[in-house]
Amino acid sequence: MNSASNLDWSHQSLRQEHIQMAAAFNKRAVELGYRDLSDFFWYHTIDLGDGLVTPGTYDYRFNLEPFRFPENMAGMQVLDVGSGTGFFAFEFEKRGAEVTSVDLPSMASLDRFPGETLEQTIRKVEGMMREHSLLSTDQKRQIFGRDALQELYRTHLDGPFQFCHSRLGSKVVRCYSTIYEVSPEKLGKEDFDLVFLGDVLLHTINPLQALAAVAALCRGTLIVSQALPETTETRPIMLYVGGEEPGKDEVTWWWPNVPCFEQILRKLGFREATLAGYHTGRVRPGGGAYKRAVIHARR
Ligand SMILES: C[S@@+](CC[C@H](N)C(=O)[O-])C[C@H]1O[C@@H](n2cnc3c(N)ncnc32)[C@H](O)[C@@H]1O
Repeated sequence: MNSASNLDWSHQSLRQEHIQMAAAFNKRAVELGYRDLSDFFWYHTIDLGDGLVTPGTYDYRFNLEPFRFPENMAGMQVLDVGSGTGFFAFEFEKRGAEVTSVDLPSMASLDRFPGETLEQTIRKVEGMMREHSLLSTDQKRQIFGRDALQELYRTHLDGPFQFCHSRLGSKVVRCYSTIYEVSPEKLGKEDFDLVFLGDVLLHTINPLQALAAVAALCRGTLIVSQALPETTETRPIMLYVGGEEPGKDEVTWWWPNVPCFEQILRKLGFREATLAGYHTGRVRPGGGAYKRAVIHARR
């Protein structure tokens, strides 16, 4: 078998696996007395106990080592910004931390390219969901036929988080804010021992401003995990990955390289900023490979 057919096989098997996971999740949810949850999009795979495992696009459950999080987080105040379905927030809580999870107050507050209209944002979010989800055409028509942004917020972001939160009996505090607007007043805490930014800076038009807002809340370690440009460039650079076609932009804008992260983080007052490693995997259902760098910065 050549490598191309190996790849096809692996994409097919991930798709099959995803379909089976989704069917098992939906069946188990109904058995446990929940409503039909098949309209929800699961970004993260989260084990909710009693045989209920969310059919997530990203499954980090057995691949946490590369992040180099402290094993024991007892007594730590942790902030997870751009928390999504909350896998990392719940993991930090499991390790003993007191956790604040931040995500957007609405889909309309996603960063927009200058000039992008709300209508274009709606199409963009619909596109993202279509790509990821296993919903039937009828379900999608129902969702997109109503108030698309609100429905997408409920089915894509906040509904899945709230379901997991309640199911896990979690004490994670959810705060609704853009990354730019996080502040002690909003979060009810002066600062945090550990701040995690997983795949969120790349969705900001102004990553420097976003990083500065969260850096001000970090008294210990800041951990950033995201894709980096494939380059041997040693000067600090930030690669623009937003595309060139008006109205066709994705939600990803910038990939700084490691020297860029290191310099910005030092300028923001961190004593050291280093590449701790990489984590890799494949997304469900598409099977696309990903590789993310993990950067640790310490006060
Ligand atoms: C790609 S997901 C990453 C989820 C999780 N942190 C992880 O690493 O798996 C990005 C998350 O960031 C949120 N997000 C995007 N732009 C944001 C912004 N400007 N402020 C706060 N959150 C944002 C999205 O709603 C989404 O939940």
